[in-house]
Amino acid sequence: MAMLTLGILGSGSGSNLQAIIDAIDSGLLEARIALVLSDNPDAFILERAKNHGIPTGLIACSPFRTKFPDTAQQETALGLSQAGVDLVCLAGFLRLVKAPLLAAFPSRILNIHPSLLPAFPGLEAWKQALEASAVVTGVTVHLVDAGMDTGPILRQEAVSIMPFDTAETLHQRIQAVEHRLYPEVIASYAKKLFS
Ligand code: GRF
Repeated sequence: MAMLTLGILGSGSGSNLQAIIDAIDSGLLEARIALVLSDNPDAFILERAKNHGIPTGLIACSPFRTKFPDTAQQETALGLSQAGVDLVCLAGFLRLVKAPLLAAFPSRILNIHPSLLPAFPGLEAWKQALEASAVVTGVTVHLVDAGMDTGPILRQEAVSIMPFDTAETLHQRIQAVEHRLYPEVIASYAKKLFS
Protein backbone atom coordinates (compact mmCIF):
# COMPACT_ATOMS: atom_id res chain seq x y z
CA MET A 1 0.00 0.00 0.00
CA ALA A 2 0.95 3.66 -0.22
CA MET A 3 2.78 5.17 2.74
CA LEU A 4 0.73 5.13 5.97
CA THR A 5 -0.68 8.62 6.50
CA LEU A 6 -1.35 9.82 10.03
CA GLY A 7 -3.46 12.62 11.46
CA ILE A 8 -2.73 13.69 15.04
CA LEU A 9 -5.11 15.45 17.44
CA GLY A 10 -3.79 17.03 20.64
CA SER A 11 -4.56 19.74 23.16
CA GLY A 12 -1.26 20.14 25.00
CA SER A 13 2.50 19.86 24.88
CA GLY A 14 2.68 17.25 22.11
CA SER A 15 5.56 15.20 23.45
CA ASN A 16 3.88 12.11 21.96
CA LEU A 17 3.66 13.86 18.58
CA GLN A 18 7.40 14.52 18.93
CA ALA A 19 8.01 10.84 19.66
CA ILE A 20 6.06 9.89 16.52
CA ILE A 21 8.02 12.42 14.43
CA ASP A 22 11.30 11.08 15.84
CA ALA A 23 10.27 7.48 15.14
CA ILE A 24 9.48 8.42 11.53
CA ASP A 25 12.77 10.31 11.15
CA SER A 26 14.77 7.39 12.51
CA GLY A 27 13.00 4.86 10.28
CA LEU A 28 11.27 3.00 13.15
CA LEU A 29 7.85 4.02 11.86
CA GLU A 30 7.17 4.04 8.14
CA ALA A 31 4.60 6.79 7.88
CA ARG A 32 4.02 10.45 7.25
CA ILE A 33 2.01 12.94 9.28
CA ALA A 34 -0.37 14.82 7.00
CA LEU A 35 -2.09 17.03 9.57
CA VAL A 36 -1.95 18.03 13.24
CA LEU A 37 -5.14 19.49 14.68
CA SER A 38 -5.77 21.09 18.06
CA ASP A 39 -8.75 22.55 19.89
CA ASN A 40 -6.34 24.83 21.76
CA PRO A 41 -4.73 27.64 19.74
CA ASP A 42 -1.94 27.98 22.35
CA ALA A 43 -1.05 24.29 22.48
CA PHE A 44 2.66 23.61 22.02
CA ILE A 45 1.77 20.60 19.85
CA LEU A 46 1.03 23.11 17.04
CA GLU A 47 4.51 24.65 17.41
CA ARG A 48 6.14 21.24 17.25
CA ALA A 49 4.22 20.43 14.07
CA LYS A 50 5.11 23.76 12.44
CA ASN A 51 8.80 23.27 13.37
CA HIS A 52 8.71 20.09 11.31
CA GLY A 53 6.78 21.57 8.39
CA ILE A 54 3.63 19.61 9.18
CA PRO A 55 0.33 21.34 8.27
CA THR A 56 -1.77 22.32 11.29
CA GLY A 57 -5.32 23.39 11.91
CA LEU A 58 -7.58 24.55 14.70
CA ILE A 59 -10.72 22.70 15.75
CA ALA A 60 -13.33 25.34 16.57
CA CYS A 61 -15.23 24.22 19.67
CA SER A 62 -16.16 27.56 21.18
CA PRO A 63 -18.20 28.43 23.19
CA PHE A 64 -17.86 24.93 24.67
CA ARG A 65 -15.06 24.44 27.19
CA THR A 66 -15.02 20.64 27.16
CA LYS A 67 -17.62 19.46 24.62
CA PHE A 68 -16.63 18.44 21.08
CA PRO A 69 -19.67 19.68 19.12
CA ASP A 70 -21.00 17.56 16.25
CA THR A 71 -20.30 20.25 13.67
CA ALA A 72 -16.67 20.46 14.82
CA GLN A 73 -16.40 16.67 14.64
CA GLN A 74 -17.76 16.69 11.08
CA GLU A 75 -15.29 19.41 10.06
CA THR A 76 -12.46 17.48 11.71
CA ALA A 77 -13.44 14.29 9.86
CA LEU A 78 -13.56 16.20 6.58
CA GLY A 79 -10.19 17.85 7.14
CA LEU A 80 -8.55 14.54 8.00
CA SER A 81 -10.13 12.77 5.02
CA GLN A 82 -9.13 15.53 2.63
CA ALA A 83 -5.55 15.28 3.92
CA GLY A 84 -5.58 11.59 3.00
CA VAL A 85 -5.34 10.36 6.60
CA ASP A 86 -5.57 6.56 7.11
CA LEU A 87 -5.15 6.47 10.86
CA VAL A 88 -5.96 9.11 13.49
CA CYS A 89 -3.84 9.25 16.65
CA LEU A 90 -5.05 11.13 19.71
CA ALA A 91 -2.08 12.48 21.65
CA GLY A 92 -3.30 14.32 24.72
CA PHE A 93 -6.56 15.37 23.06
CA LEU A 94 -8.94 16.43 25.82
CA ARG A 95 -12.37 16.23 24.17
CA LEU A 96 -14.52 13.12 23.84
CA VAL A 97 -14.77 11.85 20.28
CA LYS A 98 -18.29 10.82 19.27
CA ALA A 99 -20.25 9.45 16.31
CA PRO A 100 -19.46 11.93 13.51
CA LEU A 101 -15.69 11.40 13.78
CA LEU A 102 -15.86 7.74 14.87
CA ALA A 103 -18.08 6.90 11.89
CA ALA A 104 -15.64 8.55 9.47
CA PHE A 105 -12.69 6.50 10.84
CA PRO A 106 -14.12 3.17 12.09
CA SER A 107 -11.50 1.28 14.14
CA ARG A 108 -8.99 3.83 12.89
CA ILE A 109 -8.68 6.16 15.86
CA LEU A 110 -6.06 5.35 18.51
CA ASN A 111 -5.45 6.90 21.91
CA ILE A 112 -2.66 6.67 24.47
CA HIS A 113 -3.54 6.84 28.13
CA PRO A 114 -1.22 7.08 31.15
CA SER A 115 -2.57 4.15 33.22
CA LEU A 116 -3.35 0.47 32.91
CA LEU A 117 -6.95 0.84 31.77
CA PRO A 118 -9.62 0.20 32.93
CA ALA A 119 -7.91 1.56 36.07
CA PHE A 120 -7.77 5.34 36.36
CA PRO A 121 -9.56 6.64 33.25
CA GLY A 122 -9.89 10.39 32.77
CA LEU A 123 -7.57 13.26 33.59
CA GLU A 124 -4.17 13.09 35.33
CA ALA A 125 -4.28 9.32 35.71
CA TRP A 126 -0.80 9.24 37.29
CA LYS A 127 -2.09 11.44 40.14
CA GLN A 128 -5.12 9.19 40.53
CA ALA A 129 -2.76 6.20 40.86
CA LEU A 130 -0.68 7.95 43.54
CA GLU A 131 -3.78 9.03 45.44
CA ALA A 132 -5.06 5.42 45.38
CA SER A 133 -1.68 4.24 46.81
CA ALA A 134 -1.30 1.89 43.84
CA VAL A 135 2.07 0.14 43.53
CA VAL A 136 1.83 -0.22 39.78
CA THR A 137 0.33 1.82 36.96
CA GLY A 138 1.37 2.09 33.33
CA VAL A 139 0.45 2.98 29.79
CA THR A 140 -2.37 1.79 27.52
CA VAL A 141 -2.79 2.24 23.78
CA HIS A 142 -6.37 1.54 22.74
CA LEU A 143 -8.87 2.05 19.98
CA VAL A 144 -11.23 4.93 20.60
CA ASP A 145 -14.95 4.34 21.07
CA ALA A 146 -17.62 6.74 22.31
CA GLY A 147 -16.73 6.24 25.98
CA MET A 148 -14.03 7.87 28.04
CA ASP A 149 -10.87 5.72 27.69
CA THR A 150 -12.98 2.59 27.16
CA GLY A 151 -12.16 1.25 23.68
CA PRO A 152 -10.53 -2.11 22.88
CA ILE A 153 -7.00 -2.32 24.27
CA LEU A 154 -4.16 -2.82 21.78
CA ARG A 155 -1.16 -2.82 24.14
CA GLN A 156 -0.32 -2.12 27.78
CA GLU A 157 2.93 -1.77 29.67
CA ALA A 158 3.32 -1.54 33.44
CA VAL A 159 5.26 1.15 35.31
CA SER A 160 6.13 0.52 38.97
CA ILE A 161 5.29 3.23 41.48
CA MET A 162 8.19 3.87 43.87
CA PRO A 163 7.75 5.00 47.49
CA PHE A 164 9.63 8.23 46.67
CA ASP A 165 7.57 9.07 43.57
CA THR A 166 5.96 12.48 43.23
CA ALA A 167 3.38 13.26 40.56
CA GLU A 168 6.21 14.73 38.47
CA THR A 169 8.65 11.82 38.73
CA LEU A 170 5.94 9.24 38.05
CA HIS A 171 4.56 11.20 35.10
CA GLN A 172 8.07 11.47 33.62
CA ARG A 173 8.62 7.70 33.79
CA ILE A 174 5.18 7.05 32.31
CA GLN A 175 5.85 9.47 29.47
CA ALA A 176 9.17 7.79 28.67
CA VAL A 177 7.22 4.54 28.18
CA GLU A 178 4.55 6.34 26.12
CA HIS A 179 7.14 7.77 23.76
CA ARG A 180 8.54 4.32 22.99
CA LEU A 181 5.21 2.46 22.96
CA TYR A 182 2.98 4.71 20.84
CA PRO A 183 5.07 4.62 17.63
CA GLU A 184 5.53 0.84 18.04
CA VAL A 185 1.80 0.19 18.41
CA ILE A 186 0.92 2.54 15.55
CA ALA A 187 3.32 0.60 13.31
CA SER A 188 2.02 -2.83 14.31
CA TYR A 189 -1.66 -1.86 14.18
CA ALA A 190 -1.25 -0.24 10.76
CA LYS A 191 0.48 -3.37 9.50
CA LYS A 192 -2.44 -5.48 10.71
CA LEU A 193 -5.02 -3.10 9.21
CA PHE A 194 -3.51 -2.33 5.87
CA SER A 195 -1.23 -5.15 4.78
C1 GRF B 1 -0.08 11.78 27.73
O1 GRF B 1 0.31 11.45 29.03
C2 GRF B 1 -1.16 10.87 27.23
O2 GRF B 1 -1.09 9.60 27.77
C3 GRF B 1 -2.41 11.57 27.68
O3 GRF B 1 -2.15 12.93 27.56
C4 GRF B 1 -0.74 13.15 27.69
C5 GRF B 1 -0.32 13.95 26.49
O4 GRF B 1 1.00 14.37 26.59
N1 GRF B 1 -3.56 11.13 26.90
P1 GRF B 1 1.72 15.09 25.38
O5 GRF B 1 0.86 16.28 24.97
O6 GRF B 1 1.85 14.09 24.27
O7 GRF B 1 3.03 15.52 25.93
